[in-house]
Amino acid sequence: MGKFFDTTPIYYVNDVPHIGHTYTTVAADIIARFHKLQGDDSYLLTGTDEHGAKISQAAEKHNQTPKEYADTISKEFNEAWDKLNINYSRFIRTTDEDHIKTVREFLQKMYDNDAVDKEPRLYKGLYCVGHEKFMSPEELVDGLCPDHKTAPIEYSEENYYFKLSLFQKQLEELISTDQIKIRPETRKNEILGKLKQGLEDISISRANLEWGIPLPFNPKHSIYVWIDALINYYTFGKEKGIWPTDLHLVGKDILWFHSVIWPAMLLSVGEQPPKEVFAHGFFSIGGQKMSKTIGNVIKPEELIQKYGVDGTRYVLLAAFPFGEDGDFSWELFDKLYNGNLANGLGNLIARVAKLAQDNNISEPKNDFAISEEVSQLIQNYHLNAALTYIWNQIADTDKLINLQKPWTLKGGELETALKELILHIKQIAHNLQPFMPETSEKILKQFAGEVTVQPPLFPRI
Ligand code: ME8
Ligand code: MG
Repeated sequence: MGKFFDTTPIYYVNDVPHIGHTYTTVAADIIARFHKLQGDDSYLLTGTDEHGAKISQAAEKHNQTPKEYADTISKEFNEAWDKLNINYSRFIRTTDEDHIKTVREFLQKMYDNDAVDKEPRLYKGLYCVGHEKFMSPEELVDGLCPDHKTAPIEYSEENYYFKLSLFQKQLEELISTDQIKIRPETRKNEILGKLKQGLEDISISRANLEWGIPLPFNPKHSIYVWIDALINYYTFGKEKGIWPTDLHLVGKDILWFHSVIWPAMLLSVGEQPPKEVFAHGFFSIGGQKMSKTIGNVIKPEELIQKYGVDGTRYVLLAAFPFGEDGDFSWELFDKLYNGNLANGLGNLIARVAKLAQDNNISEPKNDFAISEEVSQLIQNYHLNAALTYIWNQIADTDKLINLQKPWTLKGGELETALKELILHIKQIAHNLQPFMPETSEKILKQFAGEVTVQPPLFPRI
């Protein structure tokens, strides 16, 4: 019954919640709910990343102070996750007082441990505000950041440095032996390949940024937003008395920060690195990158409006193998919804409920656990494969009905056949618990005692 501490990244408040954010958060919720159902002491952390140049620029555009702006957007994220039934243990904001205090203590400790240079160095380089990171000239295309299509800022100022290079050998060892387990395996190899090329020390402060946490050992400088944000996990872990983190679930674009920089920061203060980091893939939209400029951003409310809360949770995870990229289209999601929810699951429930109600048959047994196969798949983050397994159980139950033809049976034979079908349904509902908690509960309630026909779980669209 080991403690399980599960996290998702925290989101930049320069943006409104979109399908990519929703994907990470729903997936993490499924994993955390699964562990809770297994009896583990499981925590889920999510929240908003609110400091840095990107946020103060966005606030300025909206004629607001950074804090006012962050309050508005942070609330949108929080509300989106509440709507989606995300069972987070805390919604953390990097502007929370306790977080600011922890960040300052953490940085002071890095400094005291000689993991940070005693004096700042002059840094000249190219900084992309969209990414909130330095970019090398080789990463640019025609002088522009290929993701944001903007020219990076020519940057020259005094910065404090974290001696990341000191941790290269130790990180190689920890990652190659899976003491920090990076998955999928291909991502682990990419990280190891990059590590072997060597690590450079990194700048962790800004001299000309007001919207940030002051460095404890030189308050004229503020802390680089990524360094501040990563510490959110520690703020929470310390509050709860749990460490290390069992899993960071992140998109592939921020894997380096979570599997190299963050573990090195922890090692520098004598704390244990995370046990596992899993990187999921990216959604494109109809073959294009999702962006505000293109205007093809898919918002969680649009998904919920069409598919409902559990429908959204389902289609998001059912669409693509977890860990791989996927191309979103409404056609694909509609097809998944109509085929697997309205027709597949919904139809099975309606059919069996009708037969059970008409013949007054119930099956009280209810001591189920999640099927071993599903459990194994979720533990290895094969979330999409776990759903495929459950949908095979649904298809098998449909086949069983067609084979038994209960409508041709009578008396004891009919009762045995229907009871068997109800048991199948209850097992399916249990397996669905982490993925579709409300649907699962509705089904279990419907079949708990006397069975009655209910309105369709998933009306066709
Ligand atoms: O990176 N498809 O925040 P963020 C799938 N604040 N996932 C996507 C996606 C897409 N199209 N777009 C974004 C940050 N994501 C930092 C994190 S953690 C200490 C700080 C995922 O709002 C992305 O990979 O840019 C990341 O996991 C999350 O959404 C937040 O992205
Ligand atoms: Mg991003």
